[in-house]
Amino acid sequence: MSDWSQAVSAGKPAKPDSAAAGATITGNRGLRIEELLLFEQDRPGRTAVDLPEPPKVQSRLGTLARKQPVGLPGLAEPQVVRHFTRLSQKNYGIDVGTYPLGSCTMKHNPRLGERVARFAGFADIHPLQPQSTVPGAIELMDTLAHWIKTLTGMPAVALSPAAGAHGELCGMMCIRAALMARGEIRTRVLVPESAHGTNPATAAACGYAVDPIPANAEGRVDLAALKAKLGPDVAALMLTNPNTCGLFETEIREIADAVHAAGAYFYCDGANFNAIMGRVRPADLGIDVMHLNLHKTFSTPHGGGGPGSGPVVMVAGLAPYAPVPWVVRGADGLRLVEHSEGPAAESLGRLKQNHGQMGMFVRSLVYMMSHGADGLRQAAEDAVLNANYILAGVKGELTPAFPGTCMHEVLFDDHFLAGTGVTTLDFAKAMIDEGFHPMTMYFPLVVHGALLMEPTETESKEGLDLFISVIKGLARRAKSGDAEYFHAAPRLAPRRRLDETLAARKPVLRWQPPPTDRQAAE
Ligand SMILES: Cc1ncc(COP(=O)(O)O)c(C=O)c1O
Repeated sequence: MSDWSQAVSAGKPAKPDSAAAGATITGNRGLRIEELLLFEQDRPGRTAVDLPEPPKVQSRLGTLARKQPVGLPGLAEPQVVRHFTRLSQKNYGIDVGTYPLGSCTMKHNPRLGERVARFAGFADIHPLQPQSTVPGAIELMDTLAHWIKTLTGMPAVALSPAAGAHGELCGMMCIRAALMARGEIRTRVLVPESAHGTNPATAAACGYAVDPIPANAEGRVDLAALKAKLGPDVAALMLTNPNTCGLFETEIREIADAVHAAGAYFYCDGANFNAIMGRVRPADLGIDVMHLNLHKTFSTPHGGGGPGSGPVVMVAGLAPYAPVPWVVRGADGLRLVEHSEGPAAESLGRLKQNHGQMGMFVRSLVYMMSHGADGLRQAAEDAVLNANYILAGVKGELTPAFPGTCMHEVLFDDHFLAGTGVTTLDFAKAMIDEGFHPMTMYFPLVVHGALLMEPTETESKEGLDLFISVIKGLARRAKSGDAEYFHAAPRLAPRRRLDETLAARKPVLRWQPPPTDRQAAE
């Protein structure tokens, strides 16, 4: 097979470097097989199934009838199976190796959770089944809520939000509802400059003006600047703790007091709770409402855009507005309140169809119960220890963005690359050749050329030592003046570096049939 698939960057096909490939006849490298697009494998008439011709019926589609064939490729079943299996083998995932993406918490997904989530009693139930037929599932939701409330110290939790960003929306809508109930119109939300982009986006989506708070020289919220911005028109502060610089906000109690004194609410982005679970209860820090990312903290898999889960814990004053469904305990045991009525009369209603991500609830609860309270605390401590091990290991070669130790993730700026001609992006591409998924780059924006690394508790000492030796080795190579090496990276990946600007400006999102000979001649 020496025919190449269409390049993502449009225009020229992206061929692997023939020198690096060892110039094989096929272009394949060992078991790494070059893959044609399914459309390019099309043989009209070939099919994976052989069904009898359906009886002729009078079409009722009228003008809606398709004018052209749908254009699906003709393929045999083994072709399809091989194609997707090979593509899956080109994927990098937490089951393949270290995945140090900062702010993402790519931790191991324990197989116990996967196994339990597949139990028929969880996997084969339907959200529209009568509640009386699924008491176990409702009890699981209640038990998960109990663990979340105990870990955070909060009295209420909304389980249905489908991701961290969705949890933020839920929390800010509860704040808005509470302010409306107080008869107050507040228009501004304060958001630190280092915040994840979802924070200002959520505030804006809820109709608030976003007012940024600068960071101080230690990478934390500038308390004086925050106080100066507080006023009667501030609805809330949205603060991440530990923050996106991987640092604990040491003045968080003072921050909470100042926010409350101004009559505003304190929203905490709890996406980084994995660094403090079992050590700190957010309720004790003065937080009013906070989301958790079950897919980060409690080990459920990150899906490509879902299914995630972002439960939201909240203080009693916000709880009446929480979205349904609610699990409540009545005389007959547990039941779900599914509509904004009775005890949930003031609820926002539904933020999501059905009850939330059941499979994620199961996996998270398995993670919690199998670790136990002490195990969860240790997981948080190990995550912080691992990040600090990297910090200590590479400190001499890389430039930490802020002084002191870090929490679960460690942030470097690109000063160590100054004058080398190598950028953070080049550095990341060279990591791919070493078999590592790159760290998060250029985020948070408050740090120049940021490199944000988060090993999580998953990585062993040996794994971290190898990672550190690679990072240090690459840093030395960059400083030695070998910029060319970095500019050409990755050399060994299935595809070389894409023209990212062209790919962004002129994305090829749809395969087009190649021009016929006649069209080409015209
Ligand atoms: C600090 C922070 N806030 C919010 C989010 C958004 O979470 P999600 O991707 O589940 O919407 C993330 C995601 O990684 C995050 O790191």
